[in-house]
Amino acid sequence: MRILSGIQPSGKLHLGNYFGMMKPALCLQEQGEAFLFIANYHALTTVADPAQLLANTFDVALDFLACGLDPQRTVFFRQSDVPEVTELTWLLSTITPMGLLERCHSYKDKLAKGIPASNGLFSYPVLMAADILLYQADLVPVGRDQKQHVEVTRDLAIKFNNQFDPVFKIPAPSILEDVAVVPGIDGQKMSKSYGNTIELFGDPKETKARIMRIVTDSTPLEEPKNPDTCNIFALYKLFATPAEREDMAARYRAGNFGYGTAKKALFEAFDAAFAPLRQRREELAKNRDYIEQILRCGAERARVEARKTLIAARHAMGIE
Ligand code: ADP
Ligand code: TRP
Repeated sequence: MRILSGIQPSGKLHLGNYFGMMKPALCLQEQGEAFLFIANYHALTTVADPAQLLANTFDVALDFLACGLDPQRTVFFRQSDVPEVTELTWLLSTITPMGLLERCHSYKDKLAKGIPASNGLFSYPVLMAADILLYQADLVPVGRDQKQHVEVTRDLAIKFNNQFDPVFKIPAPSILEDVAVVPGIDGQKMSKSYGNTIELFGDPKETKARIMRIVTDSTPLEEPKNPDTCNIFALYKLFATPAEREDMAARYRAGNFGYGTAKKALFEAFDAAFAPLRQRREELAKNRDYIEQILRCGAERARVEARKTLIAARHAMGIE
């Protein structure tokens, strides 16, 4: 089974990304042949600063490697290192109905946020379809927000296969439904666009300061507290063992337990989990060439598959 997913290098990765996408994706490398790429062509639709895009792309590569991506097992690459994807995007765009793209929520949401409506932003799902179909992926693990894009991909693959010789495997989305939304320090969904994130590899002092700023209610110290409505507890339980979780919940309910103490426990749990990864990341960051080599080697492996599919698609459509 081939599993494929991508992540945009559009900012510093945070705990929402880690528990919502990275951790499940890294678990999948145990279950099949995994392809994972850094979607820098997609990021061009929102990141306008070239130096920033380059830096973000390198950072995402480091983050994944530090968090346990095994480049022997997983085909790990940069989207732009496989130029076949842009050609397939064009081929697919000629069979993509405008209405299909006009209905995409993600496009409408981005317009509502004030992102200028470029052709790239509009046809973003066609590039994503090319990403998926090029590698004949069986399964595409994505967050709920990306489900519609996988449905567009399926529609395009079915249409192509009916209209021309069948070339594409029809992929299935694997929606990470059971992954709860990770709250940010203000209690809304953690997202870089809300400025409420806890970065995976930020400066530990800054991380601690942000954790100490997590919004809570104003229940007095001595009164019992409800762990299930508390943002600190929602984050703490992501790190804790079941026994630690129970213990913390009991302390909330018993009273005489302040939110400040819970915040310190959260920082300690965060630091225990990420300090070793941070150290690994620092080591990796010293060796840019090694990271570059991993990405290029991944792209070479990916291109073997990409070329086969592209040749078949061109041929099916009457190009050569
Ligand atoms: P952001 O909201 O910070 O811009 P992205 O939209 O780039 O994050 O998300 C990248 C991946 O991380 C997606 O698969 C998304 O579902 C997941 N993700 C992002 N934020 C969260 C969160 N707060 N909780 C769970 N998953 C998240
Ligand atoms: N659009 C996805 C996101 O923002 C990233 C992405 C690009 C992707 N191409 C993909 C995900 C192909 C899965 C498969 O999260």
